[in-house]
Amino acid sequence: MKVLLIGSGGREHALAWKLSQDTTVEHIYCLPGNPGMSSVSKCENVPFDISDLNGLADFAEQHKVDLTVVGPEAPLVAGIADVFVERKLAVFGPSKLAAQLEGSKSFSKELMAKYNVPTAFFKICNTSAEAKAFIRTKGAPIVIKADGLAAGKGVVVAMTLEEAFAAVDMMMGDRKFGEAGARVVVEEFMPGEEASLLAFTDGKTVVPMIAAQDHKRIYDNDRGPNTGGMGAYAPAPVVTEEIKQKAVEKILKPVVAAMRNEGMPYVGCLYAGLMIANGEPKVVEFNCRFGDPETQAVLPLLDGNLAEIMLACAEGTLKPEMVKWHDGAAVCVVMASGGYPDVFEKGKKIKGLRDVKKVMSAEVFHAGTKQNGEDVVSNGGRVLGVTAMGKTIREAKDSAYEAVALIDFEKKYFRKDIAWRALKE
Ligand code: AMP
Ligand code: GLY
Repeated sequence: MKVLLIGSGGREHALAWKLSQDTTVEHIYCLPGNPGMSSVSKCENVPFDISDLNGLADFAEQHKVDLTVVGPEAPLVAGIADVFVERKLAVFGPSKLAAQLEGSKSFSKELMAKYNVPTAFFKICNTSAEAKAFIRTKGAPIVIKADGLAAGKGVVVAMTLEEAFAAVDMMMGDRKFGEAGARVVVEEFMPGEEASLLAFTDGKTVVPMIAAQDHKRIYDNDRGPNTGGMGAYAPAPVVTEEIKQKAVEKILKPVVAAMRNEGMPYVGCLYAGLMIANGEPKVVEFNCRFGDPETQAVLPLLDGNLAEIMLACAEGTLKPEMVKWHDGAAVCVVMASGGYPDVFEKGKKIKGLRDVKKVMSAEVFHAGTKQNGEDVVSNGGRVLGVTAMGKTIREAKDSAYEAVALIDFEKKYFRKDIAWRALKE
């Protein structure tokens, strides 16, 4: 089959890499793709404005594409799946209404409350006076979330009342995130350890993937500001078999059933961000797409045909036996531009990309890179996701860092402790 893959980050490079291994796939159009994806077999990068949803559907029709896979959330929240379904084009990703699970925090919190899905106690606030009054009654620590999409930056975990009020002023007063902050969700602080559990679903059947753990903070020991994610590993031992079962039965399955019941069936990858405490998982957030960088650690462990699974999701024929997993582990270390997540420089020549082939089982997924003549140069905050597999997390981690050591660019920065929670004690 011919696949159209939308996006240009590390997640999409990992998707392209895994899709290319599916024997049923003959060609993958990557719109717009990145320099790493152009060297994946069967892949062809095509420059494209991916906010042009009708243009993307025209492309799929003209090129007789059998399956479209949407990487990032923005086109999903904008309704790309509706445009494709309307034109009878198979698409892996939720409809505009279903994508509200990520696109609107108030929607997802209200759905969870209605269907008794475990999550933090909350209040949806339409004015800053309302938000501040609720914060005063609850006290700190407390969490303030902009309702709409804010590029992963719309959440403030406030340790004091002053921080909480400042967050409300920043979102609702200064409109730091534009209309996304016209409404906020104020919610109870949940202690515990986080993990990401992603699942394939065709709107009825839900098949969980292997649980992963991201590292959101910029510095070692989980300190400093939040980032898009500085590394990930899978499987995450904090998600024991028992906790995974609970997450599937109390969270993933009820939410997919709820969405169908609400008349907005959810098709695609459902990402549950979990907080785990005392053996119980609660929902921190939902995303309507694969995680980045979790995908780079989860997909290498998939022992199945990704395109076949995704097509089955799009066509409503997903079966649990399609999704199998390899034993072992994978670790992804993100190499970033120094200064990220604040100010950083781009255009630094990346050296050593070819040397990485010396490290068995290592794969370098490009996130923010650009081709500049013969050179590949940095072109974003997160530049590369250096991934390796191993029999154990330690083995995968050692190989990933062995590969990282072979890559160089000016002012590179990476965390040295990816997977530390799995390896402590
Ligand atoms: P989100 O964008 O909703 O995933 O939030 C970003 C980060 O804020 C999460 O990964 C958590 O580390 C933290 N966070 C969000 N909500 C809560 C909560 N209710 N309690 C504790 N931490 C939270
Ligand atoms: N790794 C966090 C996310 O994809 O939202």
